[in-house]
Amino acid sequence: MPFLELSFDLKRLAPEAAEAACFACGASAVTFADARDDPVLEPLPGEFRLWPATRVQVLFAADSQPERLARALSGALGIGVELIRARQIADRIWEREWLKDFHAMRFGRRLWVGPHHERIEHAGAVVVRMDPGLAFGTGTHPTTALCLEWLERNLVSGARLIDYGCGSGILAVAAVKLGAQLAHCFDIDPQALIATRDNADANGIGANVRIWDSADGLPHGVDVLLANILCEPLCALAPRFASLVRPGGELVLSGIMQYQVSDVTRAYRACFDMHPFGHQEGWVGLCGRSR
Ligand SMILES: C[S@@+](CC[C@H](N)C(=O)[O-])C[C@H]1O[C@@H](n2cnc3c(N)ncnc32)[C@H](O)[C@@H]1O
Repeated sequence: MPFLELSFDLKRLAPEAAEAACFACGASAVTFADARDDPVLEPLPGEFRLWPATRVQVLFAADSQPERLARALSGALGIGVELIRARQIADRIWEREWLKDFHAMRFGRRLWVGPHHERIEHAGAVVVRMDPGLAFGTGTHPTTALCLEWLERNLVSGARLIDYGCGSGILAVAAVKLGAQLAHCFDIDPQALIATRDNADANGIGANVRIWDSADGLPHGVDVLLANILCEPLCALAPRFASLVRPGGELVLSGIMQYQVSDVTRAYRACFDMHPFGHQEGWVGLCGRSR
């Protein structure tokens, strides 16, 4: 379906009031978008966090009158009509738009992650099928890529592991495909638990993946624990992770910026000898053995 899009900078407008004004003018969709490429990292489930510079994109029926609508919107928002930009958006098969940009990627020598529709024909390839969805984790983000590369190089066949903050379940699915016996998955976001179950089943390894809706149920004494979260929760979780990994087991942490390495290393030093195992685009992966 084609659309007419009107857009404006949110600036000091209240987001809820701006959204209500757009719908009152007949909008069929309102999107808040990042105007300057400032990432918003890890909003909690249900949390609505905006960027420092937010652009509001408002869709109307394609046959609407741009000038008349811009004047109505300018009145409803209380901003000058010259601050509202109009453009026509051509018809596309929206459900398939992501296919253009998402292709199979290789991690290490053997591990491939790709969408279901793409053929991956490499001798010895270990293939994880993953389509973009609501939960984080397709392999395109450096923090996920670091963990996938660690798994490809270091995972011991038959390992039992925890994927803490599983998102889409990509790390658990990759681990099982690479030879792990059992992956226990937990996330604070219920949507992630649904996505992990779906992705494990879609990859034919559902029986090797257990989903936990409370961290209290996770088993103690696993061989490997992977957590791609962020510096602050990782530091807070150090005592819990220490109790979940067996002596001699491995902890793999991601979601850490270069300047946060010393904080995370310090938080874990009582129980783990942490060291960097990879860097990508300012992100660092840390791993260490439990003493
Ligand atoms: C960056 S995503 C990583 C997803 C996936 N494991 C990957 O590597 O792509 C982080 C995930 O951790 C979850 N998360 C954030 N804080 C958490 C916490 N304190 N406990 C458990 N999960 C958490 C988020 O809901 C999100 O799904």
